[in-house]
Order: sequence, then C-alpha cells, then structure tokens
Amino acid sequence: MPTKILEPPAAVQHKQLAAWVDKMAALCKPDRVYWCNGSQEEYDRLCDDMVESGTLIKLNPDLRPGSFLARSHPSDVARVEDRTFICSVKQDDAGPTNNWMAPDKMKAILTPKFDGSMRGRTMYVIPFSMGPIGSDISQIGVELTDSPYVVVNMRIMTRMGDAVLKALGTNGTFIPCLHSVGMPLAPDQDDVPWPCSPDPKNKYIVHFPEERTIWSYGSGYGGNALLGKKCLALRIASIVAREQGWLAEHMLIMGVKEPSGEKTYVAAAFPSACGKTNFAMLVPPKAFREEGWEVLTVGDDIAWLKPGTDGRLYAINPEAGFFGVAPGTNEQTNPNAMATIKKNTIFTNVALTDDGDIWWEGMDGEPPQHAIDWQGNDWTPDSDKKAAHPNSRFTAPMSQCPSADPAYEDASGVPISAFIFGGRRTTTVPLVTQAFNWAFGVYAAATMGSEMTAAAFGQLGQVRRDPFAMLPFCGHHMGEYFSHWLNISRRFDMLPPIFNVNWFRRDAEGKFLWPGFGENMRVLKWIVDRVHGRAKASEGPLGWAPRYEDFDWRGLKFSKRRFAELMRVVRDDWVAEIASHDELFFRLYDKLPPEFPSIRDLLMATLWREPRDADSGHG
Ligand code: GTP
Ligand code: SPV
Ligand code: MN
Repeated sequence: MPTKILEPPAAVQHKQLAAWVDKMAALCKPDRVYWCNGSQEEYDRLCDDMVESGTLIKLNPDLRPGSFLARSHPSDVARVEDRTFICSVKQDDAGPTNNWMAPDKMKAILTPKFDGSMRGRTMYVIPFSMGPIGSDISQIGVELTDSPYVVVNMRIMTRMGDAVLKALGTNGTFIPCLHSVGMPLAPDQDDVPWPCSPDPKNKYIVHFPEERTIWSYGSGYGGNALLGKKCLALRIASIVAREQGWLAEHMLIMGVKEPSGEKTYVAAAFPSACGKTNFAMLVPPKAFREEGWEVLTVGDDIAWLKPGTDGRLYAINPEAGFFGVAPGTNEQTNPNAMATIKKNTIFTNVALTDDGDIWWEGMDGEPPQHAIDWQGNDWTPDSDKKAAHPNSRFTAPMSQCPSADPAYEDASGVPISAFIFGGRRTTTVPLVTQAFNWAFGVYAAATMGSEMTAAAFGQLGQVRRDPFAMLPFCGHHMGEYFSHWLNISRRFDMLPPIFNVNWFRRDAEGKFLWPGFGENMRVLKWIVDRVHGRAKASEGPLGWAPRYEDFDWRGLKFSKRRFAELMRVVRDDWVAEIASHDELFFRLYDKLPPEFPSIRDLLMATLWREPRDADSGHG
C-alpha cells in the first residue's frame, strides 16, 4: 500500500523538515503520515483510539479522571543501557563508558530494520521543544514515531505541536529523532496492545553526535522511546553543552523558600530511582512549614545550566512533565506527587484495582484484596509476584504539581546556589558533607557510587560508580566531561558549593538510619544555611560536615548516637572505596583530570590521620 501523506499543516514552512519527513516516510513505509498539532482534542482522540485498540485502559473517571493505564510487553520495562550506543565518528569521542559503533556500520545495520518498519501503522510527526518555547536555552526536536503511546506521553513531557513548528519557522534548527517500535504489520495481521521488538538484542537506542541525530528501534518504553528526554536532553545536549560552555545534567531543580521570603535554588543529581522526584517535591516537617519554610519544584530529572551575564549559573528544566517511579509513592513519602497524579495521568505497568483505579507496592492503606497485576494477571496479597513492576511509572503534567514553582516557565531559568550529589549506599557514605572546594566537589561527584535499581541495567543492589549520576547519559568521553566541569568554574563569579548526601545508609539490623523524605528538609536547611554563611560545620576527612548541634531538630527525636553512626567515616571502608575509584580512573586514564590522583592521595592521607574507627572525625 502506498504511503498516504496527510497534508502537513500550513505551519510547516520548513523545507528541510518536510524533506526529512518525506525521506523517512519513504524508508519506514507507514500507511499514513500524521503531523501532530499538540491540541487537547488530538490527545483525547489518540487516547480513545488506544482504548479501542487495547493499548490503554481507561481508569474509573470518578476515581482517576482523564487517566489511563498501559501495560508494556514484559521485555520492554526500562531503559536498555547495553543496547544504547554513541556512534561518534571517532571511538575515542564516545569514551570507554559508552557502547560505540562507527556511524556507517550502525546505519548499515539499522537502515534495513527501519525499511518498512512502520508498515500497517501511522507515522506521527511530533515537533517538540525542550525548554520553554523561545528560550535561548531551549532546543527543538522533531520525533517521528509509529507509537501513539509515545505521542501522548510526549505531549505531557514536552511543549509539543503547532507552536513549536511556528517557532521553527522556515529554517530553524531542529534535532531529528526517528523512532519505531519495530513491529510492522502485515495486511491482515492483528496488532498487539504493546508492539515492540521482544528480542533484547533487537533494540537499538542510537545517537549520532556529529549529525545531532537520534535513531531508536525496538522499544516503546520511557527513555528509550520518548526521545526528548534522555537521548536529546542528556546525551546529545551534554555534547552540545561541552562545545558551547554550559551543562546538561541528570538533576532535579528546587527552590527553598525561607520565612523571610528569600528563595535559594539548588540542583541535585541522584541516579535513576534514587529519589530525585521525592526530593524535588519535598514537603518540609510541620515545625518548618509553620514557620514559613517551603520547597518549590522546578524539575525532577533534567537540568540545563548556563552561565548568566551576572556571573551566576542559571538552570532550566527542559521538560514539562514528570515520568516518575510509581512504587513507594504515597501520601507520606510524596504527597505532592500523589496530588499531581490525581487526574490526566498516564500510568504504565502499575496494578489495576477492581474499581478501576491503580495500585502499587508502597501505596497508602491496605493492599487491595484483588487486583490485576502489571502483566494482566490476577493478583492477591498472597501472590509471590509484585503487582506493579518496580520500574512502573506515571506520566503527569508539571502544571498539576501543587509545589510547582511558576519559575519553571521562565525562559531565563533560576539561579543555582548549590549542587547536591547523592547515591544509594547502604554503608560507607555519611548523610551529608560539603566539599572543601570546587575540585574536591567535582572529584566526589565523579566517584559517586550507587546500588543498582530496577530503572537501570545491571545486578540489583550491586554498587557501581555512577559519575554525576550521568553514567548512562553522558554522550561523550567521561574524562572530558570531568574536565568540562573543572573548566566551567572559571566562568562564574559565584561558584555554587558542592554537597554530597546519602539518604540510604542502614544500621546493623538493615534499617535505614535516616528517616528521609520530608525529614531531608533538615539536611537541606543546613545546606541553604551554609550557602548563606549561617551554619557551622567541622572539618573532616571528606569535607565540611554538620555536628549534631548544627542541625535544626525541632519536631524530630533523633539521638546523638544515631547521628554519629549516620555520619561515621570508617577508615577501612573508605580505603576500599578509594581503591574502587581507581578502577574508574584507570578506565579513563588518558583523559583523567590531573587533579584527581592528587585529590585521591590527599583524601587517603587524611583518612590515615584519623583514628581507625572514628565516630566521624567531626567535633
Ligand atoms: P529517575 O526518574 O529514574 O531518574 O529517578 P528519581 O531519582 O526521580 O527516582 P525517585 O524519586 O522516583 O526514586 C524513588 C526511590 O527512591 C524509591 O525507592 C523511594 O523509596 C526512594 N527514596 C526517595 N527518597 C528517599 C529517602 O529520603 N529515603 C529513602 N530511604 N528512600 C528514598
Ligand atoms: C531514568 O531512568 O533515569 C529515568 C526514567 O528518568 S527513563 O526516562 O525511562 O530513562
Ligand atoms: Mn532519570
């Protein structure tokens, strides 16, 4: 059947864009090409069509208005890091932490796969802007996809449609993003609810840095398929950012408003499923709220940061929605997220209750007596399987978040006063420390370790080095990325101090030592107070650290002993930790910043001056 090209809207005045769409349609051979305008009517129509086809289940409109559930194929539940490639011309530009293949070789593999890959389907053209339309930090992309699920998610996660086409004009720059689920339909073949390429070796998430192009094949899930997110806003953007002197980071952005009304913005990098959404939407403890402390959310996953003309660093959130981890989200851990997802939300791989609502492990109240699990099977509390997939997610608009800072729409961004880095560590890493200076902070961020979660590829629970929480997202050589962070400090008059946190340390019984969630406000307050020169700290081997009396403990019983345990720096643990820094350093050896081995040695020497099992080395 010849491809039926629906007339592009009048707004498409961009010859190069129109030509690229034609060329890709000729390759992928969809039955139809449809240009998305981004309207509510279009969104509703696509959702209704997907309910009809079985891709979406409409949730009970009394309980969850305007919301839907999708269940993915069991092979397609998370990003696929081992199938993610940086296809730079030179292998060295991708560095040793990325999968690499020569661009022509990759194209020779993928072109035949895309050839006819959209047969029997519609190719949707999605013009989208990462960042407010018109901001000079923003970037425009155009995603071609055969997945209507991707279209509706992109409408929540980005600014999308006619307004973007208009901004592109006749010759604006855009990043071409090609996506296919990789399951063409023969003329009389029935579709399945979640088409994808089930063979894990037949999924490809591919970036061509020189061409600034993205090709994604075989997966319909999250960061594999919503190409504005990890592919454009992190991997491609990190390459552009290094060339142009800015930063593209896996960071949340939050504002801390104090009783005086002053707002301090911070950006924080935690690896996937390690608490960015929770922290970004933090509700302070009662005593703090009553006094007038408030946390405002600018973003929960990605930050683009540029030096401003005033010598400060300004951040925007390039996204317009949340693609958040569902399990564990409840009224205690994240009331703002619970409010955000009350309506107009797409849930993927959570459980369906008998009354047509959703459920997941760790939601408030008793588990339902019966539900349908994420794979569509009956589930009861006795079941030995999880009802929701550990990486099940919600897609919800930023505008529905009660803590959203109106500044998230601000084209110039918010000024960043501190950076926070944090992994998931059961042992070794104390609750919070402040790096002595920028280079120490960059070292600490570069050597951050974290235990693997279901959001990533690897063995659950195992510690891996995840530099800057960017290991899966840095589109170029990690050693050069570190140098870029060291170099960029010369561009600012005011360098944000760098902090390291760990919410996940456990005691001998395996219990979390720190209550976390809203109580993280106490750490945040100390950080903000440090920024403004109001809080004290003592010097320890890893940096400046709070003593017990430096924290605001109002409304929480927390013993001095437990705090000491939480802050303890155990020399033997740190010797092992530093040895594992070397593993990363040797992999990056030829591009490793010369500061790093010196900082490592200083760290080691300082640790050996400590008593063998010091409480913390502080106060
Ligand atoms: P991506 O969207 O994958 O990039 O991840 P994210 O960093 O936004 O992850 P998210 O906030 O959804 O992380 C959720 C996980 O972190 C859940 O397992 C939470 O229970 C856990 N978590 C978040 N904050 C805390 C905390 O303060 N303490 C403890 N113990 N766990 C936390
Ligand atoms: C992550 O894994 O860091 C995510 C989810 O934010 S995804 O968009 O699927 O990559
Ligand atoms: Mn993420």
